[in-house]
Amino acid sequence: MKIKISPSILSANFACLGNECRRVCSGGADLVHVDVMDGCFVPNITIGAPVVRSIKPYSNIPLDVHLMIDRPERYIDDFIDSGADIITVHFEATDKLDWIIDRIHAKGVKASVSVKPNTNVDVLYPYLEKLDMVLIMTVEPGFGGQKLIEHTIPKISELRNKCVSLGLETDIEVDGGITPHNISRISKAGANVFVAGSAVFKAESIADAISQLRAGAESGRI
Ligand code: DX5
Ligand code: ZN
Repeated sequence: MKIKISPSILSANFACLGNECRRVCSGGADLVHVDVMDGCFVPNITIGAPVVRSIKPYSNIPLDVHLMIDRPERYIDDFIDSGADIITVHFEATDKLDWIIDRIHAKGVKASVSVKPNTNVDVLYPYLEKLDMVLIMTVEPGFGGQKLIEHTIPKISELRNKCVSLGLETDIEVDGGITPHNISRISKAGANVFVAGSAVFKAESIADAISQLRAGAESGRI
C-alpha cells in the first residue's frame, strides 16, 4: 500500500491557515488533514465548511476532512461542496451511514468512516466494500498532542487482514499521537495513511518532519 502523510492543521497557526497549507504542501505532504469539531461529538470546537472552502485554493494536494460532529448527515452537503476530497465521518455519530457514504460518492468525493479507540473495528465490515478509507483513531478524538493508545494497534492488523481476505486495497488511516518513534510499528500493523499534527507543526522543519515520518512508515511497510 502506498504510504501517505497527512499533516493535521489542527496544530497549525489558525491566523494564517492558507499559508500553513502551503507549507505542508511544499514540505512534501500527500494530504492536508482538516479536523472539524462541533463541541458536541467531541469536547472541542474548531472550524466549519466555510474555512475548508477558504483554504482549498492554498492546497495542491487533496483535503482529508475529518468530521468529528454529531449527525454529520445534517452538514454533509456543505462539506462536499466546500472542496473536500476525502470525507471521514464517525461510526458513533450517526445511524445514517449508508446514506452518507452514498451521498459523498454521488458527488465524486472519497468516503471514509472512523472508529473511536473503544469501538470495535468489525462494526465497519458491512460497509467495507464501499469505503475508500477507514480511519482508526489512535487517541480519543478532540485534541492534538495526546499519547497514542496502545490497544488501538491490534485493530489495525485486524482490519488489514479483513481487507486482504476480501481482496480490498482500502486505505487505513491512523490519527492521534503518531510520532517518528512509533510510526514504523503502526505501519507494520497495516496502516498506510498517517495523520500527524504536533509531530509536523512543532518541528523546526516541516519538510524534515514529513520525510522522517515517511522513512519510518516505509521501514515498517507491509
Ligand atoms: C484529534 C484529531 C487529530 C489531531 C492529531 O482529535 O483528529 O487529527 O490533530 O494531533 P497529534 O498528531 O498531535 O496527535
Ligand atoms: Zn483528525
